Amino acid sequence: MKYRTLGNTGEKLSALGLGCMGMSFAYGPTDDKESIATLERALDLGINFWDTADMYANGANEELISRVLVPNRDKIFIATKFGFRFKDGVAGPSSATGTYFDASPAWIRVAVEASLKRLKIDTIDLYYAHRIDPNIPVEETVGALADLVKEGKVRYLGLSEASAASIRRAAAVHPIAALQSEYSLLTRDVEAEILSTTRALGITLVPYSPLARGLVTNTLQVDQLTEGDFRKTLPRYQSDVADNNHQLVASFAEIAHGKNCTPAQLALAWVLAQGDDIIPIPGTKKRKYLEENAGAIDLNLTPEDLAAIEAVIKQYPHTGERYSEASLKLVNH
Ligand SMILES: NC(=O)c1ccc[n+]([C@@H]2O[C@H](COP(=O)([O-])OP(=O)(O)OC[C@H]3O[C@@H](n4cnc5c(N)ncnc54)[C@H](OP(=O)(O)O)[C@@H]3O)[C@@H](O)[C@H]2O)c1
Repeated sequence: MKYRTLGNTGEKLSALGLGCMGMSFAYGPTDDKESIATLERALDLGINFWDTADMYANGANEELISRVLVPNRDKIFIATKFGFRFKDGVAGPSSATGTYFDASPAWIRVAVEASLKRLKIDTIDLYYAHRIDPNIPVEETVGALADLVKEGKVRYLGLSEASAASIRRAAAVHPIAALQSEYSLLTRDVEAEILSTTRALGITLVPYSPLARGLVTNTLQVDQLTEGDFRKTLPRYQSDVADNNHQLVASFAEIAHGKNCTPAQLALAWVLAQGDDIIPIPGTKKRKYLEENAGAIDLNLTPEDLAAIEAVIKQYPHTGERYSEASLKLVNH
């Protein structure tokens, strides 16, 4: 494994982290035994940066991770997030009716204690606001988070899907170590003004869904997603854009074939190539994918490779929105 530094913290994190969401939530059937084996394999591979959130299966994902985290506490840098709340306590995807966002100081207190309890640890390494709360000045949210740092409940702070303006305002209150936002071959919003902002402030970008939720691996069958799969609610995985996306990923797979790697490895290598201040967190619940993805670390992309990839993306631009309208309202605040 190769390692990259988190913001200005001096912390060395594996250049590829591990997104744990799918082990409990969002992407079809789960298998705790295989998920635990995947977490243990991540340790063997030196993948020490693990990502979860309190809303993934309403806390069950944090509980699952704790089974490997607790006996290996010194080897893992654990990131979790807060802010999505469920009316009636029922878990569901973030776009579901009945889900709302709350980054108030009062809720942060409740949320952090609940995450610490489920993770069975004393301190969270990186604590993200899962979104910017449109109803609360970001300074209030970050002020409350800074108190958690002082109290030793949290070590570093992060934001997710924040606008450039919010990032600047937040960083003026307390150092922000990471911004976690969607970034992949198919979602490049951060390139407009976010990356220059994080770079100016010494903040690491942590791309989530770097495989476009499995789409760019050229193995996802969008017409066979199971009931309850979150992707069924997202425009990008619907039949009206299926042809465009199928052709895009098939052409992308040809480039991968020419480089003797898999599309997943090429997609991750592309994200890694965008800068040393970027640490993607591909998600998987399976050892075989984890091992495959780790291979992206040693893949070097030439300017010709990057140009060929760029040409394919340009050729098939109708990829569909990454989120539903309701969810898009909560990003870039
Ligand atoms: N901050 C936020 O708002 C936010 C939003 C979404 C996600 N996240 C975080 O980011 C992490 C990563 O994002 P993500 O999981 O949404 O998307 P992703 O990493 O782009 O893709 C995950 C999907 O790709 C599949 N996959 C992984 N490696 C593969 C391979 N080598 N070949 C074929 N398929 C492969 C997985 O399958 P299996 O599930 O079968 O392994 C899963 O369906 C999440 O786990 C979560 O921790 C954060």
